[in-house]
Amino acid sequence: MQENQNSEKKYEEFPRIKRLPQYVFAQVNEIKAKLRKQGEDIIDFGMGNPDLKPASHIIDKLCESAKKKTTHRYSMSQGIPRLRKAISDFYKRRYDVDINPETEAIMTIGAKEGLSHLMIAMLAPGDIALVPSPRYPIHYYAPVIAGASVLTVSIPLEGTNEEKQEQFLKNIYDSYEDSYPEPKVLILNFPNNPTTMTVDIDFFKEIVKFAKKKGLWIIHDFAYADLCFDGYKAPSILEVEGAKDVAVELYSMTKGFSMAGWRVGFVVGNETIVYNLKRLKSYLDYGTFTPIQVASIIALDSDYSIVEKAANTYSKRLDILVQGLNKIGWNVEKPLATMFLWAKIPEEFQHLGSMEFSKLLLTEAHVAVAPGIGFGEHGEGYVRFAVVENEKRIRQAIRNMKKFFKKYREELKLK
Ligand SMILES: Cc1ncc(COP(=O)(O)O)c(C=O)c1O
Repeated sequence: MQENQNSEKKYEEFPRIKRLPQYVFAQVNEIKAKLRKQGEDIIDFGMGNPDLKPASHIIDKLCESAKKKTTHRYSMSQGIPRLRKAISDFYKRRYDVDINPETEAIMTIGAKEGLSHLMIAMLAPGDIALVPSPRYPIHYYAPVIAGASVLTVSIPLEGTNEEKQEQFLKNIYDSYEDSYPEPKVLILNFPNNPTTMTVDIDFFKEIVKFAKKKGLWIIHDFAYADLCFDGYKAPSILEVEGAKDVAVELYSMTKGFSMAGWRVGFVVGNETIVYNLKRLKSYLDYGTFTPIQVASIIALDSDYSIVEKAANTYSKRLDILVQGLNKIGWNVEKPLATMFLWAKIPEEFQHLGSMEFSKLLLTEAHVAVAPGIGFGEHGEGYVRFAVVENEKRIRQAIRNMKKFFKKYREELKLK
């Protein structure tokens, strides 16, 4: 009997749970909790949990709708028709993509639930999913929970963006050809968490062409669609002509609309995939609370500037973090999108590995980051900062890290 090692009480783990390892970030979280208990102020860049508030008119609509007598019954698991129309209109306005709200759109409880149930709907034991690494953990574990096998494809971390896109395509083709049986789905995520890599539409054209030739389904997690800056606009894979023959996109209101806790996402695109997910979800849930859906309609119909405001906030924070780190000798580059900085660990700390380095940063500088290893073995050697702290606290974090680096370098000299 395999037992859970970390919690005080030991429980038997059932077979499906045994396939889910203990959360790698738990080690850093434990230290964080201990230091906080001792009264230390931890500047927390660990989790990509948005700290901004949705625009007031969205919250007002939620309250107004919740006061109505008629909005408290079971809702519709695929999302109410007006909400599906709103996501369809949003895609038309923003990407010039036509989405049929009846057959090509379904609401999900955020992108994470959407992906998880999608994998259960699409995959069976023996099927193979191609998943990038480093990756957001559920990209790997959703196929695992579905009982499928995972083949990882490494995301290049060095070189120009063009070189990375070219190399990543090659890695996908090679992994596909090496695999038996042939993979059934490919999970993509651009702008990417954690690496912040971005792609242009030509990348999607190539991958759609390949998927059509091979009969491969593409699931594109577009969670960071709206957090772009410095002139970059992330393309939707559905902008590629014919993409809907093989692809769906997961759109989320978590990041751009700052609605993380509301749990609102969508699967849009291929109607066979949408149909199958709809069938599964009709057994599992009765849909999100109607007032949340009503307020989400208002959000999607709003002027896009409410989203740009959030993107600007993260962009400014990244400017401060990047400039500050470069000043203290940690060479990093600002990404074009996401709310993250994916930073190669400075040379003198590389030998520690990302977990030990993150622990040291936490105990010595009171700065929490996510160790790259938590995103899979290809993430080793890096850490991820999520800029969910305000500008003043980012500056404080830089000062703390400067002091810690100075102390560490002096100690090295003494040895
Ligand atoms: C790549 C990626 N996909 C999905 C999610 C979760 O999105 P949602 O809140 O819509 O479930 C996140 C959140 O951090 C993410 O980074």
